[in-house]
Order: sequence, then C-alpha cells, then structure tokens
Amino acid sequence: MSEKVIITGGSGRLGRAVVQGFATAGHEVISLDRELPEDPVSGVDYQIIDLMDAGTTHAEFKKISPQAVVSLAAMAVPFMAPEEVLLKTNTTIAHNVTSAAVEAGATRVILASSPSIMGYGSPGGWVPEKLPLDESQTPRPWHAYGLSKYVAEQIAAMFAAKMGPEGQVKFASFRPCFVIAQEEWSGAPTQQGHTVLERLKDPKLSAPALFNYVDARDVADFLLLLLQRFDRVENGSVFFVGAKDALATRPLAEIIPQIYPELATLSSTLTGDSPAFSIDKARRVIGWEPQRSWRSELQAKL
Ligand SMILES: NC(=O)c1ccc[n+]([C@@H]2O[C@H](COP(=O)([O-])OP(=O)(O)OC[C@H]3O[C@@H](n4cnc5c(N)ncnc54)[C@H](O)[C@@H]3O)[C@@H](O)[C@H]2O)c1
Repeated sequence: MSEKVIITGGSGRLGRAVVQGFATAGHEVISLDRELPEDPVSGVDYQIIDLMDAGTTHAEFKKISPQAVVSLAAMAVPFMAPEEVLLKTNTTIAHNVTSAAVEAGATRVILASSPSIMGYGSPGGWVPEKLPLDESQTPRPWHAYGLSKYVAEQIAAMFAAKMGPEGQVKFASFRPCFVIAQEEWSGAPTQQGHTVLERLKDPKLSAPALFNYVDARDVADFLLLLLQRFDRVENGSVFFVGAKDALATRPLAEIIPQIYPELATLSSTLTGDSPAFSIDKARRVIGWEPQRSWRSELQAKL
C-alpha cells in the first residue's frame, strides 16, 4: 500500500538508501534535510529545512500531513561538534520531529538511534552484561552522541507512554550498526574514512564499533517492513539492525580477546561468523532478515 512518508535526513549516507528504498516500494516520499542530495531519486520531493527550528518543523509537517515518519537527521558521528552542541542538536531534532509528526496526524514514527549508546569503547572501561548485545541490556553511553541517541529513544518512549498501548500513534527506535552505503563496497570511503577492505584487513579499525556493520539497503528493507508490521510491535520498542555476520575475517571469539582482554570470557560464544550484536528481536517481531553480507557484496579481493 502506497503511503505518504516523511524521511528526515534523506540526503545522508543512510538517508539516500532509505529514500531510494521507499520510492522503489511505491511510497510518496518527502525528504526533509538541510541539504539537497548530489544524486536525487526521481519522483521524490526534496525540501530544505532546519529541523532545529520547532516552528518551521511543525508548520512543514502540518502542510505535508504524512501518514508515517522516519527520522534520520542528526549529527551522526561522536565528537564531530562540541559535546553540548551534539547533545542539544540531536535531542532537539528528535523532539521537534516526533511532536510535529504527532500533531500532523502521522500514525507511525520511527527514530534513528545508535548501537554506540551501549557504551563500548569507554575510556573508563566497559564490560557488558552479556554478548552478543541485545535490546534487554541497559545502555551506558559515555559521550554526548550516545547520550543524545539514548534520549531520542526515550522521546519515542515518552510519546508512546502518553498515548498508551491502544494509542492511535505508534513509535519505535532502531539502532543501525555501522552503515555501509552501496558505493562503499567498491572502495568509496566509509563514515570513518577507511574503506571496507581496510577495516577487514586491520581489526583495530573495526574494533571500536565491535565489528558491527549493516548494508544501508538492508536498513531500508527493515524500515519498510517495520512500517507494515507495526501492529506486531510493542509501542516505543527499540531494535538493533545489523548484518547477520561480523565485519571480520576471523571469529570474534579469537579477535576480541586480543584487543579487549577484559571481554575474553564473554566473547567466547562468538564463534564462526557470529556478530557481537543480536538481531533476533527484529527477526522475531517483524520477520526481517538482512540480505547482504560483506562476503557477498565486497568488490575487492581480501
Ligand atoms: N552511519 C552510521 O554508521 C550510523 C550508525 C548508527 C546510527 N546512525 C544514525 O543514523 C542516522 C543517519 O546517519 P547517516 O550516516 O546517514 O548520517 P549523515 O550525516 O550522512 O546524514 C544526516 C543528515 O541529516 C541532515 N541534518 C543534520 N542536521 C539537520 C538539521 N538541523 N535539519 C535538517 N537536516 C539535518 C544532514 O544534512 C544529513 O544529510 C543518524 O541519526 C545517525 O546518528 C548512523
């Protein structure tokens, strides 16, 4: 069924694939971003907006009157701005978009969070309750980016609580693993500047993200399915969205202890190509399965 969907951040690394996926699926897509994309998708309505401005955001959402909203706009990298700027920007955008979506009559709202809210890489040390990480574990963010994404999840949960379980509007957040856009499989730099091949060859490059990754097109497929199957989702839920394997050439049970000795016991279950992030909830609740792996997509030879 074709719907009118606002996608915020539609010009970004992930947004471009989500806009493409939704347009291909037949939805009427309105992308709201501060910038236009280099390569616009035909048929998509691209609007320039600063989502930090509550008045403009509410007015634009009312004008569009979307049925659903997927919000990706954010400062997407830890420490890319002073901590107070990052915190303020991402939480303000999350609140402006969610409240504007509700006021404009949208029935489903999805916010982008991040796996980094779990707290790995903290200079203060980090040992999780268990590995692989799943949605039952308590986030322990250690930087403003992680905190801002944790707050974004809580904003979705706050609106869900306000509506109650039978409310007319449904909310969810998702934590995409390290996003690989399609062109990055053939050598374009990833978000951190390295190529995928370099990340695979040098485990130290992928270790800060605990070897997680996901193809941007698989995220688009997840979001399309979530919109369709919201009736199966507890209001305010959170999902990890990652590849079915780790971005590593050896089992994490071997690599992780070499880099993080304190995780040796917990990582011993991560044998074969198992990732450190569980996507079982997304599989179980909405029946999503990622279709792409570095093993099938990488163009260069290892
Ligand atoms: N890329 C990843 O690996 C990754 C991992 C985890 C979570 N995420 C989250 O997914 C989302 C998308 O990430 P991305 O990699 O595509 O980021 P990106 O930086 O490529 O895209 C973000 C987009 O948001 C827009 N934007 C920022 N501030 C805005 C504002 N005030 N008003 C309007 N638009 C604004 C930017 O112009 C940009 O196009 C973000 O919320 C990010 O935190 C990304």
